[in-house]
Amino acid sequence: MAGKPKDAALPATPTTPLAAGDKPKARQRSIAESNEPPHLLAYQGSKRRLGPQILAVMEGTRVRRLYEPCCGSAAVSLRAASKGVATTYVLGDSLDSLVELWRLAIDHPDDLADAYASRWSARASDARARFEAVRDAFNRSHEPADLLYLLARCVKSAPRFNRDGHFNQGADHRRLGTRPATMRGRLRAVAALLRGRAILRSGDLVDNLADAQPGDLVYLDPPYLGTSSGRNPRYHQGLDRERLIAVLADLDRRDVPLVLSYDGRTGEREYGPPLPDDLGLRRFSLRAGRSSQGTLSGHRVETFESLYVSRGLEEAAARVLPRW
Ligand SMILES: C[S@@+](CC[C@H](N)C(=O)[O-])C[C@H]1O[C@@H](n2cnc3c(N)ncnc32)[C@H](O)[C@@H]1O
Repeated sequence: MAGKPKDAALPATPTTPLAAGDKPKARQRSIAESNEPPHLLAYQGSKRRLGPQILAVMEGTRVRRLYEPCCGSAAVSLRAASKGVATTYVLGDSLDSLVELWRLAIDHPDDLADAYASRWSARASDARARFEAVRDAFNRSHEPADLLYLLARCVKSAPRFNRDGHFNQGADHRRLGTRPATMRGRLRAVAALLRGRAILRSGDLVDNLADAQPGDLVYLDPPYLGTSSGRNPRYHQGLDRERLIAVLADLDRRDVPLVLSYDGRTGEREYGPPLPDDLGLRRFSLRAGRSSQGTLSGHRVETFESLYVSRGLEEAAARVLPRW
């Protein structure tokens, strides 16, 4: 399933503005006081666990807009919003139904919670048939509520699509997925944090970044090289390395500050070659934990992910992260 073509005018679709009587500062303060930002989706490749290390680079920064054009579960934007890094959060993804899911979550969290509850079942025997019925329905109509349920129940929370764009990941029958009451709480917390300060755009990252400026900040987490090719690519589309390099060169030319997650290494094994030096990026290292494969074979093998930052963020990154 390809992303929708974008209008040249970049339709920015802000979520519902703050209601009268809504106090953004008080709201932000109460969220900032809790240590963890809200979390909505488990999603393969989510930066939820690495979020604190990534945010450490941005934390002193105050920007007009934070762009996350490959947002998936938007783990970094949610964390950044809970710290007040930006005035506005521009969330995009080429999976249209995922962007619609975010729109509903922010504007109509209780409707989405109701729709989720009507799909969820506490009985494992029903859950099996439900999953298949919801997957068929999603492949016909791309309803965001169906996607929310599929992501909550599918194997490794990993969306997979066949060549025809049909969701074809199976259910993880060991779990039923997030309970409806928990999901409702998460949806309300996300809406409280982002309503009035999020702009949602479905489509390709190039279009979504077209209006980013030097006073903004881009956090980019595209599909990694190793997940974009081969027999079983992840997500609904991968990203070619040459295209990614062209996007990075363009942001550098336009002086738009960037933080990029891309590839890494497990033990001695590097995933993908380093990005070219002339992109003006500096490479740092994030501790991503122990590799399960390494542990199984009796070795303690650590995985590190790369975090590339543009020149202006180099000093901030060097204070909190080791160089690659
Ligand atoms: C590694 S995941 C992002 C995970 C995210 N950082 C999180 O915390 O959940 C990559 C995302 O990029 C999206 N994607 C793939 N190709 C894209 C493109 N050309 N433009 C925009 N998004 C794209 C995929 O749908 C997927 O959601």
